[in-house]
Order: sequence, then structure tokens, then C-alpha cells
Amino acid sequence: MIPSVIAIDGPAASGKSTVGRLVAQKLGFLLFDTGALYRAVTLAALQRGVPIEDEARISELARAIHIDLIPATRDDGRPYTVLVDGEDVTWAIRSEPVDAHVSTVSAYPGVREALKRQQRRIARQGRVVMAGRDIGTVVFPEAPLKVFLDASPEVRAKRRCEELRARGEDANYEEILAGVRHRDEIDSTRATAPLRIPDDAVVIDTDHLSIQQVVDEIARLARERHLVKQNA
Ligand code: DC
Repeated sequence: MIPSVIAIDGPAASGKSTVGRLVAQKLGFLLFDTGALYRAVTLAALQRGVPIEDEARISELARAIHIDLIPATRDDGRPYTVLVDGEDVTWAIRSEPVDAHVSTVSAYPGVREALKRQQRRIARQGRVVMAGRDIGTVVFPEAPLKVFLDASPEVRAKRRCEELRARGEDANYEEILAGVRHRDEIDSTRATAPLRIPDDAVVIDTDHLSIQQVVDEIARLARERHLVKQNA
């Protein structure tokens, strides 16, 4: 049986999480934001003092920790709650030190293999929107709908700034733009599962589209492919 997976891939800050959350709400699917798993491993390494360059120990850590994504347990704007070995790390995985190191951690093949298994297991449980970098190419190549969200680095940096400021954090546009470019470079040139457009994906350039327009287009595609009822 083909699982009901809508794969949404794209570069950092292309709107995957926001769009994914709204698409999931609209269609009655669960959102599974896979970046949270890579962030959780990175945070665990930083907290436990495992050097980010130590590929073997970080891969070991990815196999050892238990990550859960569960419905939001607090009403503080979080879309869902992330637990690492039972500890609530929902906001900690969005912090600047994690942003700075997560691309390095997610380039390690051992980490990707450990997290790929968890992703397939979780996704098989139901109708899910999976947001990530390699969902359509590696994790769920059999997904019946694959979307690739794109946007220019400038637009993505602007969105990330606004997101941080909305949470009351400092945000420097130039620094964030440099960070976005740096992560693009690592994400798309790494040897294992680099960011690339799946052959059979629908590419949506979001620079000049509102979030709602993007959401509506994905919902239309889901109806067209009979993943949901025609009136969803
Ligand atoms: O989407 P995000 O910013 O939360 O992702 C954090 C990092 O995780 C990003 O640098 C790329 C990596 N990632 C990945 O390699 N594969 C995924 N499926 C999801 C995220």
C-alpha cells in the first residue's frame, strides 16, 4: 500500500514548516517536521559536550537518544512538542547554537541513517505531511505527492528575521543572510542525501506568493491525486 505522505522539501527558511502546518490542518493530516530530529541530535551533542567534529560519537548519540514529536503540550505558540529522552526541548532546538551546527551534524551518514529509520516508522502511522530536505529523494521516494518549495536567499533571510523578532529575539539581517547561504552550501553539497529537487516533484517558487496561495496550491494537488476528498 502506498502511504499517504505529502513530501515537502526545500532549503532553509523556504516556509516548509509554516506551509506544512497549514496544509496538515486543512487536510486533516499530521505535520512531521523532520528538521526537528536533526536539531534534537545537535542540541543533545551540545548539552552533553560531545564535540561537533566527532562524527563517530555524534552518530552513536543519534542511535542512542529517543526523540518524540507529540501534539503541543503547552499553549505558547508551539506547533508541537519535541522531547529528547522525555525532556521538553521544543524551543531549545530553535536556538542560535543549534542553527550554527545543525548542518554539520546532518551531513553525517550515521546520523542520517539513524534518523531515516525513525522517520519511516513515524510516517507509516498515518496521513502525514513530512517537511525536510530529502523526503522525496531518500526517506519516502514512494510518496504520492512531492513538493519542492523554493525562495531566494534574501527572501528567506527576511522571513527568518521576522520570525525571530516575533519571538522577541535579536535578528541581524546580514548575519542571517550569511547563515542561510552557508547552510545552503553545506546542505546541497554534502555527500549523503544532498538537498536536490526530486525528479517527479512539483516546484513552487514562493518569492511572490503568499503563504495561503502556497497552501491552497498544495491542497489542490492533494485533491488532484486523490489523497483527500474532493471538498477538502
Ligand atoms: O528545516 P530546519 O531548518 O529545521 O532543518 C535543520 C537542519 O537539518 C538543516 O540544516 C538541514 C537538516 N535537515 C536535513 O538534512 N534533512 C531533513 N530531512 C531535514 C533537515
